[in-house]
Amino acid sequence: MASVQAFVPNPFTPAFGKVPAFMAGREQITEDMVQAFAGEGGDPNLCSIFVGARGTGKTALLTYLGQQAAQQGWVVANVSAQEGMLDDVLQRVREAAAHLVDDAPKRRLTGIGIASLGSASWENEPASGANWRTRMNGLFDQLAEADAGIVITVDEVDPALSEMTELCATFQHFVRENRKAALLMAGLPHKVSALLSGRSTSFLRRAFRHDLGPIASYDVEEAFRLTVESGGKRIDDDALAEAVRQIDGFPYMFQLVGYRAWNAARLSPAICEEHVRRGARLAREVLAASVYDATISELSKNDLAFVRAMNPGAGEKTTRDELKTRLGKSSSHVSTYRKRLLDAGVIEEGLDGSFSFALPGFGEYVNQRFR
Ligand SMILES: Nc1ncnc2c1ncn2[C@@H]1O[C@H](COP(=O)(O)OP(=O)(O)OP(=O)(O)O)[C@@H](O)[C@H]1O
Ligand SMILES: [Mg+2]
Repeated sequence: MASVQAFVPNPFTPAFGKVPAFMAGREQITEDMVQAFAGEGGDPNLCSIFVGARGTGKTALLTYLGQQAAQQGWVVANVSAQEGMLDDVLQRVREAAAHLVDDAPKRRLTGIGIASLGSASWENEPASGANWRTRMNGLFDQLAEADAGIVITVDEVDPALSEMTELCATFQHFVRENRKAALLMAGLPHKVSALLSGRSTSFLRRAFRHDLGPIASYDVEEAFRLTVESGGKRIDDDALAEAVRQIDGFPYMFQLVGYRAWNAARLSPAICEEHVRRGARLAREVLAASVYDATISELSKNDLAFVRAMNPGAGEKTTRDELKTRLGKSSSHVSTYRKRLLDAGVIEEGLDGSFSFALPGFGEYVNQRFR
């Protein structure tokens, strides 16, 4: 008879936006931010923008930093850049700050549901005609009594959204008025570039920009091992080395490989190299479907020609001269599409001026798809 083993949940989180059990790398950013939250406001990190390609961990980082801020007494409003965003900020602040309101216990005693506290217990709400800035100021004033500030996190920044520019323009006034306020934003490189070049968001150009590049191997290794062990399994050294190689510094791949390798190991107490290999194969399929297809579909015809001319598979890097020859185009054509693809987070440029793909395995994917 097969022995009945307790079900051990998979500790990996291959879902977009999930804060991982162990965050690989990103220590400097986290440290800087935690320090900024500990201060009295005015730290330049309190206006930060996180930039990275798909799956580099922008949403997870925003959520994580919001949690850190909340632990230090900040009231946190997490929103996405979409219509209704400003109203959402107000509602999220009220919800998150319900516990700071004086008369909360009294209301609870009288039997009013906790869910209604958020909207019911704010005093001195401005009249209904008040604009967003006035309403926010009302909240800042009340929170200041508890020495609490407000952190607004905006995910998936969108330069085309008018509320986005309104938020940025108004935030500037919060800073000037010395309000305890923080604005953390995250977005894809080309969206952020477009946002920063807008006239009404010029103040954002002074925001701290954090580029979420690949995670260093030793950080991947440590976080991977810790995640496996937290779930109650072990991982062999050669299996760990293989996982680090397959992940190649890419956070989403970290979770995909880990999740599949864990499942491949099934009831075995240790993950071996074969489990990782199997996991990585499946992970690449998921990656192609969820990230690479979406990336390709956003490229123009000329972008795609550039990507294909990088001759994926032949070598890791392509020089500008090779591209000019393969495309049969001028230097300025190469420059134009180089910039577009850099902004889209598809390619990276080395110090020697050569190009490579920013997402691991993307070259092979392009090679197979357009053979
Ligand atoms: N530092 C990290 N270490 C390990 N795993 C991470 C890390 N950051 C994010 N992840 C994981 O990577 C995956 C992608 O993260 P996330 O959804 O935050 O990416 P994103 O940059 O917001 O992507 P998109 O641009 O598509 O919204 C998630 O499964 C998340 O748990
Ligand atoms: Mg995201």
